[in-house]
Amino acid sequence: PQTLRAVRGEILHFLSDPAAYGAAASEHFADGILAIRDGHVAELGPAEDMLAKLPSDIVLDDYRGKLILPGFVDTHIHYAQTDIIASYGEQLLAWLERYTFPAEARFADPDHAAAVASFFCDELLRNGTTTAMAFATVHGTSVDALFEAARQRRMRLITGKVLMDRNCPDFLRDTAESGDAESRALVERWHGRDRLLYAVTPRFAATSSPEQMTRAGRLFAEHPGLYLQSHVAENRCEIEWIARLYPDARSYLNVYDGFGQLGPRSVYAHCIWLDDADRARMAATGAAMSFCPTSNLFLGSGLFDLASARAQGIRVGIGTDVGAGTSFSMLQTLNEAYKVLQLNNQRLSATDAFYLATLGGARSLYLDAQIGSFLSGHEADFVVLDPQATPLLARRMANCASLDERLFVLMMLGDDRAVAATHVMGEPAGLHPALSKNSKTV
Ligand code: GUN
Ligand code: FE
Repeated sequence: PQTLRAVRGEILHFLSDPAAYGAAASEHFADGILAIRDGHVAELGPAEDMLAKLPSDIVLDDYRGKLILPGFVDTHIHYAQTDIIASYGEQLLAWLERYTFPAEARFADPDHAAAVASFFCDELLRNGTTTAMAFATVHGTSVDALFEAARQRRMRLITGKVLMDRNCPDFLRDTAESGDAESRALVERWHGRDRLLYAVTPRFAATSSPEQMTRAGRLFAEHPGLYLQSHVAENRCEIEWIARLYPDARSYLNVYDGFGQLGPRSVYAHCIWLDDADRARMAATGAAMSFCPTSNLFLGSGLFDLASARAQGIRVGIGTDVGAGTSFSMLQTLNEAYKVLQLNNQRLSATDAFYLATLGGARSLYLDAQIGSFLSGHEADFVVLDPQATPLLARRMANCASLDERLFVLMMLGDDRAVAATHVMGEPAGLHPALSKNSKTV
């Protein structure tokens, strides 16, 4: 039998890029109902009309007074860095050596990986994030742990085994051959199962040999549906290092290009120190950028140039980049995105910000036919925001005249406290009873 349920409240979603098309790109219901059949959007409309046609005994979650948006999409995050968030005092390369690599070494232990994966998925959901593209560690079992935790919560999740066969501690090193073989085994085990997708994951060009980079590009090209995730042009010392390792490359991005690692479903974190030729290549190949504002400020990396990315039509999503990023909250990440762009003499409107956190993220992952909006047939993942969640929010909301103003206040003052509920495939998020009985990893 089909299951039908519905939610009522103020509902907002985006239909196309607001930067390109203006305000007409969104749909807003002050009092709306979203009807959900078997976890997918059946219909969206004004409450009055919907109540007339829905069965009277339908399961209805009443969120009147709250704002319902498509679930947030975090396009770049490291689950194994959950325990080193807020580690003091370093920029990228020293931060990797001092904090990141020791923390990632612990994921050789499957029990540790499983515990962190559960916490991580719960923390994403608590913050209204229903889809994430995440780095695991070099250990294949770390990938199993994260996919299993996401599966038990029915989340959309993209992850992959980190490839790194040089310039890193021995205890975190694979080889070009073992990395390739393990990645392929994980693709077979997980890619396309439930809502899970695999990403080939060369950490960055500095920690993979040319042989490993060649194999990564080949694997990415062999499977049309696979993703690829990496880092590019984040930090100036990093860029000088890449230039020494690859003296013939025109640019850092050009290294990835040379190994066939640009294309649809490739996602590059940071993209701060690119030039227009790099941006033209990203646009031409369909590669996406993940803008990670809290990380870029925390590590002192630099200021992302959204206007130039937009001018070339590049797909852009938002990433928290935890643990260099300082918050799991997409609201707090939008807050800092606004400030980064202020320092770069650019504006980020609230509608644009929430677009990036939902449909923009989905588009950057080529998942906008599945998630990111409430079009009929889409997977019914959504977040319920409470504009009255804190005394200050409530007070400030009372002085807002428009939806735009309220959204802006929510992204500046809101955090996990403002998330009243998160739903995945229509149902309240969390461990799914039918899936978590024997919560053993594969
Ligand atoms: N570049 C290579 N690895 C990393 C990482 O773990 N975090 C960040 N922010 N940049 C990286
Ligand atoms: Fe990162």
